[in-house]
Amino acid sequence: MKDLMNSNQGINRTGMMASLVDSLETKEGAEALTPPSEGFSSDLGENRIRYMREAEPIGSMPKPGKTKGLFSNAKAKMSPTRTLLMDKLGERLAFERSGVRLYEALLSKYHGSANKDVLPPLDQLEHFYEAELNHFTLVSDVILELGGDPTAVTPSADITGVASCGWVQVVADPRTTFMQSLEVIHMAELVDNACWELLIELARANNLEEVAGSFEEALEEEREHLENVSQWIREMSLNKDAINELQLSQ
Ligand SMILES: [Fe+2]
Ligand SMILES: [Fe+2]
Repeated sequence: MKDLMNSNQGINRTGMMASLVDSLETKEGAEALTPPSEGFSSDLGENRIRYMREAEPIGSMPKPGKTKGLFSNAKAKMSPTRTLLMDKLGERLAFERSGVRLYEALLSKYHGSANKDVLPPLDQLEHFYEAELNHFTLVSDVILELGGDPTAVTPSADITGVASCGWVQVVADPRTTFMQSLEVIHMAELVDNACWELLIELARANNLEEVAGSFEEALEEEREHLENVSQWIREMSLNKDAINELQLSQ
């Protein structure tokens, strides 16, 4: 069995052209065993809408705390812009926490790589990991200052946690390389940058100029992360010594 597995390594048989005879039989089998459903894809859409009308919301916002925060008067605490800001702060907190986990896993990929010469500098990776951790602390402090609870899961925090699950799975997978993990970090950094930009605008819409200023500093660091990660991917993709990182063996 082990020999069979070894002999199969590196052979990709997912395409129909790998064996035309077998693929035709597979197609016949699939058609025989899977009766086609009636109707059109528009019926699926209508069904989704029916479910949407009956579904509960994905979550709810926690009630504003009694602690004296920057939103000290009751009216400001209940305003829709304040609620949206608190929801998005919860999202940022969840995302930065995921960012820390992603960089932690990337550092393991670095230490487990045989050919470190083709990888980005370790001190810079560690620096970005620490920045994500600092951003997490910054957002947590701001939530507290605004009279919120950083341990509460807001609807957007819940959604971002589910949406980023795939990224964490790829980076934590022992089969993926440093480079494959770095490409996932690239996706996360793109989203990170866009979300910090929105958060700054929301802070300003709530007249929280000082908070917006501290977020500007975080955004500047996120821009640096994105620029470097993009550059590293370009360099590694064009470096023939780094080709093993792409796992393209046949
Ligand atoms: Fe981040
Ligand atoms: Fe980042």
